[in-house]
Amino acid sequence: MNIKVSASILSADFGRLQEEVDSVVEAGCDLIHVDVMDGHFVPNITFGAPVMKKIKTSVPFDIHLMIENPEDFIDDFRDALGREPNGDILTVHYEACPHLHGVIQKIKAAGFKAAVAINPGTSLAAIEEVVEMLDMVLVMTVNPGYSGQSFIGEALDKVRELRAHMPSLDIEVDGGVSDKTVHACKAAGANVLVSASYLFGSQDKAAAVDLLRG
Ligand code: DX5
Ligand code: ZN
Repeated sequence: MNIKVSASILSADFGRLQEEVDSVVEAGCDLIHVDVMDGHFVPNITFGAPVMKKIKTSVPFDIHLMIENPEDFIDDFRDALGREPNGDILTVHYEACPHLHGVIQKIKAAGFKAAVAINPGTSLAAIEEVVEMLDMVLVMTVNPGYSGQSFIGEALDKVRELRAHMPSLDIEVDGGVSDKTVHACKAAGANVLVSASYLFGSQDKAAAVDLLRG
């Protein structure tokens, strides 16, 4: 399967955000992963659509909403693109959406690719009823909130099981992905790899992207 590297700007220097985005795009990443946190759904606050609106990139956005009521912000992120969606992905958390089916419909109506994330404590069964509607499933390999956390390897059992049933679905892993853990992620069947601390902490970002892609 086509392996994609999604560069999470959570480990970027926010004071030089555009330069940092340019550096990972130049290094060959396939997507820019935008971690949106609200201090409620997760114990950290980052930024929202107004900041994303200022980022210029030639690769699609991979927007990871770790917020309550994400359906209220879909249009803001759509507008923040400043163009038609073109391969841009919008991910909401299963744990934040009592009306998940309707939220997915809204994401697709806005023109985004639709994805749902599940936390390490959530089983695959949670998304069984909606998985056929999705362009991607994000299996969290840390509890969301911060970059630089330790990889939770047990979550890969879910990747393995999902891949066995969905051979062509994009399956993303996020959290603790590095040179040490990426092989296990790909062996389990993940094909979209998020990296913040490993990628931004590398002296040679192009080599880091190549290593992740493998
Ligand atoms: C965590 C975020 C991740 C995070 C990954 O809540 O969703 O995208 O930036 O950071 P690393 O790659 O450092 O684990
Ligand atoms: Zn993320």
